[in-house]
Amino acid sequence: MGSSEGWKLRCIGCGRIASTEIPDSRCRKCGDLLEIRISRRIDRQSFYTRDGPGIWRFARALPLPPEAEPVSLEEGGTPLVRTSRLGTKMGLENLYAKNDGQNPTGSFKDRGMTVAVTRAKTLGAQALVCASTGNTAASLAAYAARAGMKAVVVVPRAGVASGKLGQAFAYGAKVFGVEGNFDQALATVFDLVRRDDRFYLMNSVNPFRIEGQKVTAFEIYEQLTRVPDYVVLPVGNAGNISAIWKGFLEMRAWGIINALPRMIGVQAEGAAPLARAYSSGKAFSPLKEPHTVASAIRIGNPVSWKKALNAISESGGKAVVVSDDEIMDMKRKLAQEEGLLVEAASAAPFAALPRLKLPQKAEVVCIATGNGLKDLSEHGGDQKIEGVDGPDAIINSIGGRL
Ligand code: F0G
Repeated sequence: MGSSEGWKLRCIGCGRIASTEIPDSRCRKCGDLLEIRISRRIDRQSFYTRDGPGIWRFARALPLPPEAEPVSLEEGGTPLVRTSRLGTKMGLENLYAKNDGQNPTGSFKDRGMTVAVTRAKTLGAQALVCASTGNTAASLAAYAARAGMKAVVVVPRAGVASGKLGQAFAYGAKVFGVEGNFDQALATVFDLVRRDDRFYLMNSVNPFRIEGQKVTAFEIYEQLTRVPDYVVLPVGNAGNISAIWKGFLEMRAWGIINALPRMIGVQAEGAAPLARAYSSGKAFSPLKEPHTVASAIRIGNPVSWKKALNAISESGGKAVVVSDDEIMDMKRKLAQEEGLLVEAASAAPFAALPRLKLPQKAEVVCIATGNGLKDLSEHGGDQKIEGVDGPDAIINSIGGRL
């Protein structure tokens, strides 16, 4: 499998080539993660085809046979928005938001899900399963529906944003809750796929997810027409930072770019096992009780920690923390000063900028990973509405402040 199709599955630990897909996506010999190595020839001319939407324009760089029919909702191809005031205020002339909240289910997860569900379909999988803090659940549910397959999602019983849960139910997924956090949900899903191979694992340990998500790097390069100096993004289970770095490395290997960006991973103070390992220089160790207002990245034991630390050190980047207050303050600023409504986790990279003190002229791309419409709880609802019985009430209320 694989090599004749132009790609291989390789263990990041011992380098062993896996001859088949493994239910828990881990190397049979050493237990480390697997990654896909694209072995087909790619160059500037064959890198992308102009026809086809979103990430599938780069089909040649993805590990699927040319005849595979993508299970797609036209994901990817999201805007790269230059900030107008916020960047300047923080001393950055070239600050961009890659607005991945504009994907079909409102998060970057759709990029990976389209590839992994397409792969699962070619394998004849019956039920697709993931653990999730919400966005992966919503995305899996949608793509499973699109493919005519069953979706099973396991979430922390408490703390998942209601919009994300609502999406999972709306797309027809079967939803289970664990007493505990994402890490317990993921452990449950690992046990499930090892026990019963009718369930196909769809978390970002599934290397096909990473392949779809790496396209973010291709798009950033294409939209900016250059490689940015910095890519800054929130880190939870650590799949996306690994994926985007892989995308840049591949473009360099194919002779499309020469430079590489520095990758900066941002975690919330109370859920920062990677940032702690990075700044202490000590070995990575998981955190038992992660806590943060940014529920999407409330993760203590990121499964792709090794890939993420590689991405950070190879690129000369950093892992940093931000406080919950900084996150929520930035979330408000992004909405009220830029018109960008992102979820809390997605405000984290912007919130990290004042601490990073990057050069004024640096080109900085923050990944706005998820749409703020999924979680509007902190903005209040009808209790905040001011009653009105005619124009006078409005003029009296705000007329003096115009
Ligand atoms: N931003 C958002 C909005 C997320 O939903 C996630 C992860 C991340 C950032 C972190 O990405 O895990 O690749 O490092 N959400 C997962 C989920 C865990 O279940 O939806 P990562």
